[in-house]
Amino acid sequence: ARKIIIDTDPGQDDALAILLALASPELDVLGITAVAGNVPLPLTEKNALKICELAGKRETAVFAGASRPLVRDLVTAEHVHGKTGLDGPDLPEPTMRLREQHAVDFIVETLMSHGEGEVTLCPLGPLTNLALALIREPRIAPRVKEIVLMGGGFFEGGNITPAAEFNIYVDPHAADVVFRSGAPIVMMPLDVTHKAMTTARRVAAFRGLGTRVGAAVAQMLEFYERFDEEKYGSDGGPLHDPCVIAWLLQPELFKGRQCNVEVETMSELTMGMTVVDWWGVTQRRKNALVMRDIDHEGFFALLTERLGRL
Ligand code: BDR
Ligand code: CA
Repeated sequence: ARKIIIDTDPGQDDALAILLALASPELDVLGITAVAGNVPLPLTEKNALKICELAGKRETAVFAGASRPLVRDLVTAEHVHGKTGLDGPDLPEPTMRLREQHAVDFIVETLMSHGEGEVTLCPLGPLTNLALALIREPRIAPRVKEIVLMGGGFFEGGNITPAAEFNIYVDPHAADVVFRSGAPIVMMPLDVTHKAMTTARRVAAFRGLGTRVGAAVAQMLEFYERFDEEKYGSDGGPLHDPCVIAWLLQPELFKGRQCNVEVETMSELTMGMTVVDWWGVTQRRKNALVMRDIDHEGFFALLTERLGRL
């Protein structure tokens, strides 16, 4: 199975990504590292534990990481995810414990103790933990198989400012470190995740699984969707983070192009913007495979089938 570390700030869509990974035998989740993002760290680490317990995978190793971005103050997204970050279902307080090791140490140690190209990193939140790991031990960059991340947006614009997507905006300096690291990157920007919309029919399919996981997921999505439905008049909300895990399982669901991507860290107006050289008008190094399209029917079929296994 492919060895992965999920770095995350759960978040309802992070929760679905984690459940998808834990349900999939093709993936070996070496650890889940929490970071501050959608809500502050004490809540994201607790939510990560709750999700592992919901999945019935109490043996999963969960670590706490950075409590704030490298340079800027933390910006959170309770307006989308609710006060707890995981509003919707009434999940019990976790009895599972966090591991003692710091998330950044766990990332460094795992990459250094595995062979080159053996471990894939899956960031679903701000890139603070990853940047700290790369700064602490630059030898991890050539050892990473791939960094498959949810973040950025180009043709679609931003969702937290007109120019920036939330994960990159919260810690643009960390994102800059990651995009310059030399490690191979697969990027799932808003351009693709805004095509992975839940609908009433899709939420009903999750509930129709007739399991505890199916019911909890339906409740999470009903809470989470209300934001996009009110704001954009859409039927449902975008399932950003599960796109990362779906790519590992069925890359043929996605279409993209190898491009140069740079992150804006200087301008307040466009802070955290991901500038994608889609048309190859510069000679800059092609550092990321940037996705733009998704087979959304196939994606939801995969998600529903896998959640049904938990
Ligand atoms: C990203 O921001 C968070 O709110 C979501 O969990 C996702 O990772 C989308 O911009
Ligand atoms: Ca997230």
